[in-house]
Amino acid sequence: MGKTFLNLALVIIFHFSVGTFSMELTTIFTDQSALLTLKDHIIYDPQNVLATNWTVSTPVCNWFGVSCGFKHRRVTALDLTGLGLVGTLPPHLGNLSFLSLLYLTSNSFHGRLPVQLSNLQLLKYLSFANNSFREEIPSWMGSLTELRRLYLFLNNFKGVIPFSLGYLPKLEFLSLKENQISGSIPFSIFNISSLQAIVLGYNILSGSIPSVPRDLLSLQVIDFTLNNLIGHIPKDMFDHLPNLKRLYLNYNLLSGGIPASLFKCTELQTLSLADNQLEGSIPIEIGNLSMLQFLSIGYNHFEDTNLLSTIEKERERSAVKCALSILQVGLECTAELPAERPDMKEVAAKLKKIKMELLRAKD
Ligand SMILES: *[C@@H]1O[C@H](CO)[C@@H](O)[C@H](O)[C@H]1NC(C)=O
Ligand SMILES: *[C@@H]1O[C@H](CO)[C@@H](O)[C@H](O)[C@H]1NC(C)=O
Ligand SMILES: *[C@@H]1O[C@H](CO)[C@@H](O)[C@H](O)[C@H]1NC(C)=O
Ligand SMILES: *[C@@H]1O[C@H](CO)[C@@H](O)[C@H](O)[C@H]1NC(C)=O
Ligand SMILES: *[C@@H]1O[C@H](CO)[C@@H](O)[C@H](O)[C@H]1NC(C)=O
Repeated sequence: MGKTFLNLALVIIFHFSVGTFSMELTTIFTDQSALLTLKDHIIYDPQNVLATNWTVSTPVCNWFGVSCGFKHRRVTALDLTGLGLVGTLPPHLGNLSFLSLLYLTSNSFHGRLPVQLSNLQLLKYLSFANNSFREEIPSWMGSLTELRRLYLFLNNFKGVIPFSLGYLPKLEFLSLKENQISGSIPFSIFNISSLQAIVLGYNILSGSIPSVPRDLLSLQVIDFTLNNLIGHIPKDMFDHLPNLKRLYLNYNLLSGGIPASLFKCTELQTLSLADNQLEGSIPIEIGNLSMLQFLSIGYNHFEDTNLLSTIEKERERSAVKCALSILQVGLECTAELPAERPDMKEVAAKLKKIKMELLRAKD
């Protein structure tokens, strides 16, 4: 009994000391060695930034593109955007355990994204955009649960969008634009309530648009331009997107009608549905979208395009009227004699009235 207890105690002590030991092992020198390994993996550095700047004679925290935390002096951000670097990413980057931002945008990194990057559990901002990656998007990205921004656009990523990305509970911006990504859009993506923009355009995605299972109050931009999406726009999609500002579904193979619930997106500014196989009548409620500035629905099979030109004309008329009124106020302000010029209060009141008229005309 006593012996067992002793063994247990030893195990616990051993366990704790191992824990402390490894904690002490990762220091700023771990960060330095990870970054120097990255430097070794860069085969071309056109501006010689790393060669001249990343040297052991200066503290890591002063290196170009590196930021450290105030208190613990560990590397918290690595931003090497736009240096034109050519190289690969070593697994050692996974040792930068305090990293919250990793931006390698606009370089020519290629090869595999090392699985050790999944150790970066504090990562909030991650960009490999505009590089030369051509592997699949690794599913471990779904374990970086602090991620806010994930930018992988402008690469040659292939394969499917991992379902696990839907497990990123704090994700706000997701852009996978301009890759070779295929398969269907995982429905888990529309389960992220923090999502503000999802940009998947210029890929070869197929299947239909997943339905939106919950209110996504933050979602402002959906861009699925130029894919091979088929099927109907989900009927209840617009019931859950009250703050949607820009919707791009153009250049796909979508069929069926525009759901009448679209009018619920009262914040909508851009609606691009052109180049699909949409049909039926255009819901008259489109005219109620008073914020709409850009509407593109050509190259579909809609029945009545007259309605749209009516809406357009109404809008043009009120815009012209508004412009003329402003011009009038402007002319009054440029009167030769100061005494003839209206005072600022008067001008403000006039402009306000014009604004109200314009807004009323838009409703
Ligand atoms: C490295 O770059 C940083 C940031 O541009 C600069 O402040 C620092 O002086 C540079 N260090 C050396 C040794 O060139
Ligand atoms: C960092 O990571 C690499 C590879 O993942 C490993 O070989 C190395 O020992 C790690 N630790 C330190 C302290 O550099
Ligand atoms: C992509 O990166 C290259 C440099 O590698 C740069 O010249 C180009 O402007 C970048 N493109 C975009 C869209 O940022
Ligand atoms: C959607 O998110 C909720 C919590 O935000 C979670 O309970 C649920 O399991 C998620 N569903 C799917 C299919 O991921
Ligand atoms: C659209 O606007 C018209 C007139 O402005 C109004 O009568 C109608 O109820 C509105 N429709 C919806 C669905 O809000």
